[in-house]
Amino acid sequence: MILVTGGCGYIGSHTVVELCNAGYEEIVIVDDLRNASIDVLDRIKQIVPSVSLHFYQVDINDEEGLEKVFSTHNIETVVHFAGLKAVGESVREPLLYYQNNISGTLVLLKVMARHGCKEIIFSSSATVYGPKNPIPYLEEMDTSATNPYGWTKVMQEQILRDIAVADPEMRVALLRYFNPIGAHESGLIGENPNGIPNNLLPYICKVAVGKLEKLSVFGNDYDTPDGTGVRDYIHVVDLAIGHVKALQYIRKNAGVLTVNLGTGIGYSVLDIVKAYEKASGRTIPYVIVDRRPGDIACNYANAEKAKELLGWTAERNLDDMCRDSWRFTEKNL
Ligand code: NAD
Ligand code: UFG
Repeated sequence: MILVTGGCGYIGSHTVVELCNAGYEEIVIVDDLRNASIDVLDRIKQIVPSVSLHFYQVDINDEEGLEKVFSTHNIETVVHFAGLKAVGESVREPLLYYQNNISGTLVLLKVMARHGCKEIIFSSSATVYGPKNPIPYLEEMDTSATNPYGWTKVMQEQILRDIAVADPEMRVALLRYFNPIGAHESGLIGENPNGIPNNLLPYICKVAVGKLEKLSVFGNDYDTPDGTGVRDYIHVVDLAIGHVKALQYIRKNAGVLTVNLGTGIGYSVLDIVKAYEKASGRTIPYVIVDRRPGDIACNYANAEKAKELLGWTAERNLDDMCRDSWRFTEKNL
């Protein structure tokens, strides 16, 4: 059976759906609901009625709670999403991030080891490429970070590589996500952060429905075609399918798989604004403001390794991402 930590969250919920679509229909979810709603479970069931979900509201730092889950179910693989992800918050509250992301992962790995569970798929990030690598990013490049959130990803990757050295039976996938956006085409699950969003797409969605007045574009003097920041946006459903492919790969291959999950295409902030206006039929008012500290001009993936090893490429384009995001936004925000 598969355990999905953080399975009620944005990427986790879409991955549960795609695991089920691929025939893995019995899934255990552990989520303490600090950044998700319990309603997501019903919505997953509406999308994939054949799914059999076992839900536990447990913090992954709670060893006893996790122990019960592993004693109740025969967990073969863990898909590990649970973690905090806001860069700015991590700068203000580093201990919270190291505690939740690093200690939580250590507790999880300890319980996995006790139960002989040797397969883990981990949510890493393009942030591990740090500020100095040339683009496009290749998996062999050195890793580093510029903020505590990023360091937790660099450190968790290292911990997972080290345990795979110590135990050659371990099967580890380190999936480096680029910028996931969009939503399931049903409009039932998607991303709806509390408060004022930090990330571009959730912010644009709130402007589109009139909950925020205008977008602030962080700088138009970067060395990019229109001066605004360029990123590799990937549809969350493509990203979720990447996890299924990684699962199939590690079940055949022991050791550590490290792959980028991106499209290999970069779009600017203004490209995204235009695409979203087209998808929603709404105008997105914006102002140009100063650069956001810590941002880089441009990043995108070299997506060849995932294609070669997993037979995976992102199939949904920017119009699909904006259309599906708008469908979710219209219904839920
Ligand atoms: P999310 O916040 O929607 O999902 C994370 C889920 O984990 C939430 O449901 C939250 O309640 C749960 N959670 C957090 N800490 C927990 C704990 N200690 N115990 C149990 N549950 C806990 O975020 P997401 O966008 O779905 O991200 C999932 C993973 O992917 C995270 O590890 C994140 O760092 C990583 N990631 C996300 C992005 C992105 O842009 N969304 C990019 C790269 C990597
Ligand atoms: N941006 C704006 N206005 C906003 C928000 C963002 O102009 O209100 C711009 C940013 O300057 C950047 C682009 O939109 O050029 C994308 O910004 P996001 O905050 O959406 O995404 P980032 O690429 O900065 O961050 C993402 C993840 C992080 C991860 C990082 C590096 O959210 O968790 O990628 O991989 F660390």
